[in-house]
Amino acid sequence: MKITVVGAGNVGATLAQRIADMELANECVLIDILEGIPQGKALDMWESMPCRGSDCRITGTNDYKDTANSDIVVITAGLARKPGMSRDDLLNKNVEIVKSVTAQVAKHSPNSILVIVSNPLDAMVYTAFKISGFPPHRVFGMAGVLDTARYRSFVALELGVSTKDIQALVLGGHGDTMVPLPRYTMVGGIPLPELLSNERIEAIVERTRKGGGEIVNLLKTGSAFYATSSAVIEMVESIVKDKKRILPCAAYLQGEYGYKDIFMGVPIKIGRKGVEKVFELKLNAAEKAALENSANAVKSLIKDVKLS
Ligand code: LAC
Repeated sequence: MKITVVGAGNVGATLAQRIADMELANECVLIDILEGIPQGKALDMWESMPCRGSDCRITGTNDYKDTANSDIVVITAGLARKPGMSRDDLLNKNVEIVKSVTAQVAKHSPNSILVIVSNPLDAMVYTAFKISGFPPHRVFGMAGVLDTARYRSFVALELGVSTKDIQALVLGGHGDTMVPLPRYTMVGGIPLPELLSNERIEAIVERTRKGGGEIVNLLKTGSAFYATSSAVIEMVESIVKDKKRILPCAAYLQGEYGYKDIFMGVPIKIGRKGVEKVFELKLNAAEKAALENSANAVKSLIKDVKLS
């Protein structure tokens, strides 16, 4: 198993460290355009392997030849948000970065599974899909797992219960229009609406929608990366170990939920081959309307990518 992480910033480097620590691959390559940064960070991580009890061979490079024949490539490259910026403000800069990265990755690892993390997420997955020419089951994006993790962590705080007992689902684009689904949120098997008032649920939903911005405002110089990399790990682990986890991810829709030719957050089954199934839920009128609103935001970003 060879995994390449593109982008040696906070998200990419933390992710590579987690991959190596967990021995999810025998080879992990960290690549970036900045000279010395991926090499230095990867060497530092490699030197931590004896203490971590792992022997994942982790290396850093600026040359895509070193990433050849990766099984999984996670693309985190791109600029991160600064305070006051929306994820969408990043589109113009990051679309060029994701285009050039994807072209290199597709050339050197034509059989890989691509997991996209760059923002604005849904539009960047679409870009990688179009540029790579890969089938849709081998291109998907991380956002729903992060959004759901935030939502679950806030529910756990509110109720004073273990995060382990919160099961939840967030649909839609990775933006302020995302759609957390309280009706599908379970606390140790108990539906959330039985435990919290609508008002408290709505406050948690709103904090989840703004969860990325809350971190950006605190950090001031970048965006979230601990929860972000943990979320990617859940997806990568499900591929590597063929776990068949059901996770909300930005997947290619071909008529599901009434949408075509867009990537948007929906529950999917992830195994060794990538996306194995898209699950379609029965939504009520309010949930449908919220998803429609989110899909419209995603469509307008995808239009700005100018690849359709
Ligand atoms: C977030 C950014 C990275 O949600 O999109 O934290």
